Amino acid sequence: MLYVKKANAADLEKEWQFVREMPADENGLTNEWPQVSREDFETKALPQMIAYDEGKNLPEGYVPETFLFLWDDDRIVGQFRIRHTLCESLRTGAGHIGYCIGKNDRGRGYGTEGLRLTLEEARKIVPEEEFYLRVNRDNPASLQVMLKNGGRVVAEDTEKYYVRIPNPGP
Ligand SMILES: CC(C)(COP(=O)(O)OP(=O)(O)OC[C@H]1O[C@@H](n2cnc3c(N)ncnc32)[C@H](O)[C@@H]1OP(=O)(O)O)[C@@H](O)C(=O)NCCC(=O)NCCS
Repeated sequence: MLYVKKANAADLEKEWQFVREMPADENGLTNEWPQVSREDFETKALPQMIAYDEGKNLPEGYVPETFLFLWDDDRIVGQFRIRHTLCESLRTGAGHIGYCIGKNDRGRGYGTEGLRLTLEEARKIVPEEEFYLRVNRDNPASLQVMLKNGGRVVAEDTEKYYVRIPNPGP
């Protein structure tokens, strides 16, 4: 069964193993904690994820952000993030949602289904009437994930497509 679950202390071991394997930056999806040690994950990375979700300890100008993991039964296959509202830099930049599927699990529908499940959570949080997303032009798989979840391209430049998905609200 596929489901999303917030970053939490009970799942620390599996969360750590997933996050340490994520590259620092892949197609614009950044990870502050590549190769993170278990100790740093437990004492820094995970507490930061939980605090950001609660709107605590945010760097100047940051909005609250929820870190979800996509689980297939007892295995983590992806990470999805929801930024709770738009600030100016998000409005013209990365938007509300970011995601990454583990390298060995790509091409099996997890990205598409994970975004669908994440939007179900995001609709309870995000006040804007549309979800803003952005994708590199050379990342057709991610563009497909967005389009299959109701996305439409509203703008483009030489590097990016800017996508909107209607937010039905809570
Ligand atoms: C982008 C990413 C999330 C896609 O996840 P995934 O689990 O492989 O996606 P899915 O299996 O749901 O596939 C999505 C669609 O993309 C298509 N696709 C995959 N690779 C493709 C390619 N190279 N060209 C065109 N379409 C492609 C698939 O066929 C599928 O469409 P279909 O169902 O109509 O066949 C994953 O590759 C990833 O984590 N990449 C690194 C981080 C990243 O790019 N994040 C997004 C930043 S915007």
